[in-house]
Amino acid sequence: MVFQLEEIVPWGRSSADYHAMFNLTDADLAGVILDCAGGPASFNAEMTEQGHHIISCDPIYYYSPAQLEQRIEAVYPIIVQGMEQARDQFNWQPGETPTSLGDRRLLAMQTFLEDLIPGKAARRYQVAELPTLPFADQQFSLAISSHLLFTYSEQLSLAFHQAALVELARVAAEVRIFPIVENFTGERSRHFDTVYDSLTTQGYHLHLCPVSYHFQKGGNEMLIIQPPT
Ligand SMILES: C[S@@+](CC[C@H](N)C(=O)[O-])C[C@H]1O[C@@H](n2cnc3c(N)ncnc32)[C@H](O)[C@@H]1O
Repeated sequence: MVFQLEEIVPWGRSSADYHAMFNLTDADLAGVILDCAGGPASFNAEMTEQGHHIISCDPIYYYSPAQLEQRIEAVYPIIVQGMEQARDQFNWQPGETPTSLGDRRLLAMQTFLEDLIPGKAARRYQVAELPTLPFADQQFSLAISSHLLFTYSEQLSLAFHQAALVELARVAAEVRIFPIVENFTGERSRHFDTVYDSLTTQGYHLHLCPVSYHFQKGGNEMLIIQPPT
């Protein structure tokens, strides 16, 4: 079910952020990558420009650039104010402020908005949502997903996490999820241990890997999952 427009809180990161969150290498980028829950990130736009092959999926791609832009304008000041209030939960670069970070996010989201219409026509942006994806088994060499699973553990159940991760591992040879800590608390997701044990028991290969992206305190690890061999 697609979210109502007024429920959407668009916030998207850049390709540089994605490289740091997922330790992306040239070998990774040589394959076909699924960015699941890509939202208004500019990863797809920037990587396509460089000749790479990315498909992004998210329920918000149902909406037009104008509708999403209107939501970005509505929520931007609220998010920046929220970061201001929770400043000590984040690692700030020297000289960086919630406003300067917000400006970088706006730039990424603007790049996304400009790419949305041509990208939808090329089927690079597809309306789809976990836990059921409209892709073939092992269609992708890599599936990445940031700031949905584990981040929203309070709102998304354990069963949802398990089904979503199994689905991602169905469509891709490798899955990377970042971060594994919850929003606001910065604590490791309440679902993490159970998900880890359950998927391991089912024959999936899981491991944690440190990454260079470390904005949310405690959030500098990604989970890697490979399907059973
Ligand atoms: C915080 S944004 C992250 C965007 C991007 N990955 C990034 O890090 O910049 C979370 C995204 O998850 C999407 N989302 C929410 N529920 C989803 C679901 N069930 N399946 C796929 N995407 C979903 C939202 O629409 C939103 O765009």
